[in-house]
Amino acid sequence: MTKIARAVVVVTRKIPEAVEQEIATEFDARLNPNDTPMGADALQEAMRTADVVLCCVADKMTADIINTPGRKAKLLANYGVGFNNIDIAAAKAAGVLVSNTPEVLTEATADLAMTLILMTARRAGEGERHVRSGQWTGWRPTHMMGTMVSGKTLGLVGFGRIARAVTKKAHDGFGMHVIFHDPLVPNGALGAQPRASLEDVLGESDFVSLHCPALPETRHLMNAQRLGRMKKSGILINTARGDVVDEAALVAALQNRQIAGAGLDVFEREPKVAAELVNMENVVLLPHLGSATLETREAMGRRALENIRLFVSGSSLRDRVA
Ligand code: DGY
Repeated sequence: MTKIARAVVVVTRKIPEAVEQEIATEFDARLNPNDTPMGADALQEAMRTADVVLCCVADKMTADIINTPGRKAKLLANYGVGFNNIDIAAAKAAGVLVSNTPEVLTEATADLAMTLILMTARRAGEGERHVRSGQWTGWRPTHMMGTMVSGKTLGLVGFGRIARAVTKKAHDGFGMHVIFHDPLVPNGALGAQPRASLEDVLGESDFVSLHCPALPETRHLMNAQRLGRMKKSGILINTARGDVVDEAALVAALQNRQIAGAGLDVFEREPKVAAELVNMENVVLLPHLGSATLETREAMGRRALENIRLFVSGSSLRDRVA
């Protein structure tokens, strides 16, 4: 691989300032201080004029953008562990490298899965709205009763890094029984017990938390039929990717009381959220906050920066995904 003397790096969105400064010190950086979303034209311009595009999970790096005529860029340094925003086949075919930022967001995302479990079980969003709207009339024994988290069964769909971090928090912290299904992980670990099929996990769990990547095989994994396999008292948690769940089927399952609730940080058509979900009290909705802590977002920036450094010095990437 060839070295690049003074690489031009386009950073598509505003990222934490400390990392922006590091990028600007080392490279000819084009930052986005106003955080204006870059449309297809701006992304194509970036592909034409930069050596590296540091893009984020909200930038749709389609085949058309990757194949921009006169493209100069040879690295897409994705600011995120998931990279379903990038047409990987097109990048491979075009010889454009792709890196991501694994590991550094594991704990933050697992924390957010626990947040959603606790919020849905204890009706925290509903309670907040109740207080803020002035409807609270005082303590009473049967007011807004939720369901226990401690001692319940948590079913994990996928057993990668984030699912393992959730296992530790749920098992050690809340005494939950943790089960999982992951076709690539036959044996249990950290107190989590494997199940032979996804259906087994769905049927046994009080909370089902999704931790699989967005792949063609996982699109609408949670469809009407699988939602129907969950307990009627079951709660679905999604901090993975929106299209792992068939959102229309989820709305129907909630409306028909086939499941009791959902805690969602990701959506099928982000930033659009089905209007029916917005009106349901038993659903907690967050705006894709899984990795949104300053520490994590800085670490993600530094991990992307490390990959860029390796690329411009002609070395192998640490986190190459294509
Ligand atoms: C990721 O990294 O994939 C997250 O969804 C962005 O926080």
